[in-house]
Amino acid sequence: MGIVLRGGTIVTDADYYQGDIRIQGEIIVAVGDQVTHAEDTVLSAEGCYIFPGGIDAHTHFDLPVGTLSTADDFASGTRAAILGGTTTIIDYATQFKGETLQQGLENWHRRADGKCYSDYGFHMAITDWNENVGREMPWLSQEAGVASVKLYMAYKNIMQVDDSALFQVLERSRDCGILTCVHCENGDIVDNLTQQFRRQGKTAPFYHPLSRPPRVEQEAVNRLMVLAELTDAPVFVVHLSCREALETVAQAKARGIRVFAETCPQYLVLDDSVYQDFTFTCAKYVMSPPLRAKENQDYLWNGLKTGILDTVATDHCSFNLRGQKEAGRDDFSKIPNGAPGVEHRLGILYTYGVKAGKLSLSQFVDKMATQPAKLFGLYPQKGVIAPGSHADLVIWDETRHLTIGASSHAHKVDYSPYEGIEQQGQAIHVFLRGRQVVKNGLVCEDDPQGQYLFRKPFSPSER
Ligand code: URP
Ligand code: ZN
Ligand code: ZN
Repeated sequence: MGIVLRGGTIVTDADYYQGDIRIQGEIIVAVGDQVTHAEDTVLSAEGCYIFPGGIDAHTHFDLPVGTLSTADDFASGTRAAILGGTTTIIDYATQFKGETLQQGLENWHRRADGKCYSDYGFHMAITDWNENVGREMPWLSQEAGVASVKLYMAYKNIMQVDDSALFQVLERSRDCGILTCVHCENGDIVDNLTQQFRRQGKTAPFYHPLSRPPRVEQEAVNRLMVLAELTDAPVFVVHLSCREALETVAQAKARGIRVFAETCPQYLVLDDSVYQDFTFTCAKYVMSPPLRAKENQDYLWNGLKTGILDTVATDHCSFNLRGQKEAGRDDFSKIPNGAPGVEHRLGILYTYGVKAGKLSLSQFVDKMATQPAKLFGLYPQKGVIAPGSHADLVIWDETRHLTIGASSHAHKVDYSPYEGIEQQGQAIHVFLRGRQVVKNGLVCEDDPQGQYLFRKPFSPSER
């Protein structure tokens, strides 16, 4: 006995067509016409799109930052994810100073185990590089299912690594089938600009974007491109936000460097005018890189369309305005960085990408599901609607509209950076490995069904 989703418009990264999908257990077993067996349960998807479940490859749930922890943990974060049509998240587990990679990873497993409503995997952020850590890397990709690491070129004295560590990690990752994700901002320059503002008494969140201008991001991307070329290691630029960085990635791709890049909904639809509010309220938008001038948005949309940008992820990292962001009321550099968004990635990309004519339906699916699956070792189990793949499916009703806001979102945080923004279309039914987890736009309140995903090592052949 199976489940049949009947009569929807099935969208893949290559095309779209009307058809039925038959699910048995956790797997899609047939796609096409006349797939129904006698005792199957049939759910009509007529008039709706069916997308592969979204993959958000950049979240920070239950992340400790100083004495604080992010407002969303793995339960609230992944619950919000499935409501928005994201059935897999890849979170940044972190090796803090003095820890081994194994300790860092165990900590993240403890945080997530039994709490996740979506499936989940981990990247491993390395903040304390040494030879012993290098010796753990084969274990990471071959036994722990972690096929990507992350390095920060910013956040001086906290997470920032120097060029020597970056170079060595790239060489080691290349040999272990690991993709190196990098936060590209020149942390030393950010630190200098920040100290200058502080000395001048310029401590309002207004100064946050001025302490991290686009050139600071571009310089770091450029340095990473040089190191990627020297080491012949594949690299992934996270949360790319501006034209300058995009052009640097485009030139590197043209030179044959194995570079991939992600942008985020906030950089596509929000801009730096929000910082003109001189009150503390604009601490809501203190994230790194910061929001950019509006003219960058067309370049980013175009980068998605032309393939310079490979994926869209949220960088969901939520802190309440009251009680958490307030830690930086007298000093913008003490405001915990980040913003929520995991629930609205598909909605924003669909509304302001597909409906606005900036992305085709297939490009939308490619950026939000197929490419993340390919780059992060989950394809073809995830990211595609085909026999043999996980039945992670989103039935998307584009006649539904909603207004995004803190009073209605599922994020456990007291504001939305997208407050008042209209979303066209909604995930009305969502399936995770064949099980319905969202019904009529509401979470089916079963126990969390999410499983840890052992990801395959990075392989250029699957690209
Ligand atoms: O501001 C941000 N992006 N916070 C999350 C941590 C990071 O840099 O990805
Ligand atoms: Zn980052
Ligand atoms: Zn991040």
